[in-house]
Amino acid sequence: MTTLLQAIPAPAVELPYYVPAGNECALFELAWRKRLPLLLKGPTGCGKTRFVAHMASRFGLPLHTVSCHDDLTGADLTGRYLLKGGDTVWADGPLTRAVREGGICYLDEIVEARKDVTVVLHPLTDDRRILPLDRTGEELQAPDSFMLVVSYNPGYQTLLKSLKPSTRQRFVAIEFDFLPLEHEIAVVASESGLSADCVRPLLLLARRLRVLKGQDLEEGVSTRLVIYCATLIAAGLSRDEAVTAAMIEPLTDDLDVKKGLIEVARATLG
Ligand SMILES: Nc1ncnc2c1ncn2[C@@H]1O[C@H](COP(=O)(O)OP(=O)(O)O)[C@@H](O)[C@H]1O
Ligand SMILES: [Mg+2]
Repeated sequence: MTTLLQAIPAPAVELPYYVPAGNECALFELAWRKRLPLLLKGPTGCGKTRFVAHMASRFGLPLHTVSCHDDLTGADLTGRYLLKGGDTVWADGPLTRAVREGGICYLDEIVEARKDVTVVLHPLTDDRRILPLDRTGEELQAPDSFMLVVSYNPGYQTLLKSLKPSTRQRFVAIEFDFLPLEHEIAVVASESGLSADCVRPLLLLARRLRVLKGQDLEEGVSTRLVIYCATLIAAGLSRDEAVTAAMIEPLTDDLDVKKGLIEVARATLG
């Protein structure tokens, strides 16, 4: 298959570094080309945001990223009237900007957002691809290059906070997980500057701690945390201190669990 990516000239700027886990780049490209919205599922810190940044750069598209939280409303995405020196002026929100520019809008942790956010997304995620702006009376037709990408972490969702089928069934979905060991070593070494030989035991530890997810831990050690740990070691901190600060303390507040994690670290790292 000759992909569009091969046809697009390499951009002059350096792309955000991304090591693929499988065929996600080709799938993203097809979804973009066919104007399908995309859902990325996976644990925190496994590369979803980096992947979107990488792909947006590859296509030369503007990227508007929104970290969703429980106060985020539809108006935060679409826009609102603001007071400016006595006048009220309309200010586009990130979603509206992405639609107008024909770029990518990336909604990170979509389940955190308020209910009315999904209502805003519905007409954009079916074949109409429109964004009605009730306040201004406009109805924007999304250009072909516009793409909606959302992510969520199925791991720590409660029943109350999961994606409703009526919303999730509007997306093509890709499952993300931590990279295979050798790939993850390469990523951590590249991002932290620590040698691959020093990174390897940290990742062996990370893998052991990831197994505890769902028992004692809500989340396992992310690639992001291992990068933090490796960065601290590369900057001169002792390995034990770096492991405690970046791979154990962020995981739990429970003293007993922490003790257990420290023991696993000792047994793994020697
Ligand atoms: N496949 C990958 N290629 C390159 N870097 C990665 C990859 N996966 C994770 N990373 C690194 O891990 C960090 C955290 O990833 P991020 O994309 O922010 O995770 P998520 O959005 O899934 O929470 C990134 O900043 C990057 O340094
Ligand atoms: Mg992210």
